[in-house]
Amino acid sequence: MENKELINDINNNVNEYIRNIKENIDEKKALVITHGCQMNEHDSEKITWLLEKMGYDFVNEVEDADLIILNTCSVRHSAEDKVYGQLGNLKNLKSKKKNIKVAVCGCMMQREESRNYVIEKFPNVDIIFGTNNIWKLPELLKSSYDGKKLAMDIEDNPLSIDDALGANRLYNFKSYVNIMYGCNNFCSYCIVPYTRGRETSRRPHEIIREIEELAKNGTKEVTLLGQNVNSYGKTFDDKFSLANLLEEINAINGIERIRFMTSHPKDISDELIYSFKNLDKLCNFLHLPVQAGSSRVLKMMNRKYTKEDYLRKIDKVKNVNPNIALSTDIMVGFPGESEEDFLDTLDLVKKVEYDTAFTFIYSMRENTPAARMDQVPDKVKHERFERLLDILYPIQERKNKAFIGRDVDVLVEDFSKKDESNVSGRTDEFKLINFKGNKSDIGKILKVKVKDANSFSLVGEKIES
Ligand code: 5AD
Ligand code: SF4
Repeated sequence: MENKELINDINNNVNEYIRNIKENIDEKKALVITHGCQMNEHDSEKITWLLEKMGYDFVNEVEDADLIILNTCSVRHSAEDKVYGQLGNLKNLKSKKKNIKVAVCGCMMQREESRNYVIEKFPNVDIIFGTNNIWKLPELLKSSYDGKKLAMDIEDNPLSIDDALGANRLYNFKSYVNIMYGCNNFCSYCIVPYTRGRETSRRPHEIIREIEELAKNGTKEVTLLGQNVNSYGKTFDDKFSLANLLEEINAINGIERIRFMTSHPKDISDELIYSFKNLDKLCNFLHLPVQAGSSRVLKMMNRKYTKEDYLRKIDKVKNVNPNIALSTDIMVGFPGESEEDFLDTLDLVKKVEYDTAFTFIYSMRENTPAARMDQVPDKVKHERFERLLDILYPIQERKNKAFIGRDVDVLVEDFSKKDESNVSGRTDEFKLINFKGNKSDIGKILKVKVKDANSFSLVGEKIES
């Protein structure tokens, strides 16, 4: 059977389960709790899309929910511990409110060890599904309502099935779009290649079709997602790269901003770097995880570039587009990291001058090569972490303050968290900015004058047009 026919067939099947739940189950209040990265956030949007089709309403408190879904992350130990804590609390809730259903999905369920631990320690879990089986949720719910003790599916199903699902996007004006799945890099500290499997790229025409549809429905900004988007297309027989894909998306009417993440420094090509000059819709923002500044540590991490290679790429990016804002992921306390290695990280941070950074303390993940290396004591890791922030924050503040007095374009996303008479949004450079505004501003791209700034955000004033 053709792939398309197969998907149609499966969709009919899914629709049958959806109808069944919609018609036969009365108590339908759901809460989806998402841990981890944008990939998970987007998966949760697919989950809520399915739930809405089944007639579920959404609540914010576990006590009000009839169905609780935990979409989990495995990247760090603390993320897993958080899920175990939540499952422990739900155990108590379930002893009071018998008919609630608890489902667990995401990266943790792709790992046999974590999955078995959940099954053994938390018999209150009713449903388990993997990262490629979101479309199975209606069927699993049905078997659970029919009395199955644990309804589970973590088989490696063809990815295109989940791609065929819609997504209940949090904002219709900005959307995540998956362009590839999995990772082939096997960085020695990372669990992702074991949970999300090998790299596979989605075909360009499918991606373009999805984005055209999104644009018709009001999406102005798309963020292309993948663990290593720079190797997009490498699995195709014909030559088609991320730069080619960006060019096609740049031509779509209605799309005004394009972002992508995450990149790998070893795979970022000159062709892609030049896209930051040639494509008017590609935002002035690049997230390029460095992880560490010491070439010795980078080698132990299996990152396949040196400190000098990385700095050369950054120089090239800055030369091609002097307005680009730079972001990164940095890890401290990787096994064997010496004081000298750590000083290399601080040196790199000072040289690059990041606009923003995600900072992590190395967390040992079982069965990864780094778990077998000599670990750095916790105290040293924490102390280095603080020293890293002491260097990063003043740089961020200086870079943000350089925006004071400038007029920037802001995609307004929501009311400000702290003050409802303010709205907040992102500049082209992905800087968070707050300013006086109202509901009608949300979803628009507005001109704003920057009045003030600190390490984490800007404050502005709307320019009346
Ligand atoms: N410990 C700490 N941080 C990690 N990351 C990935 N694996 C680990 C780990 N074992 C970080 C990396 C990656 C980001 C998504 O998470 O910096 O880029
Ligand atoms: Fe993990 Fe490295 Fe792959 Fe990123 S590139 S997902 S850090 S293995």
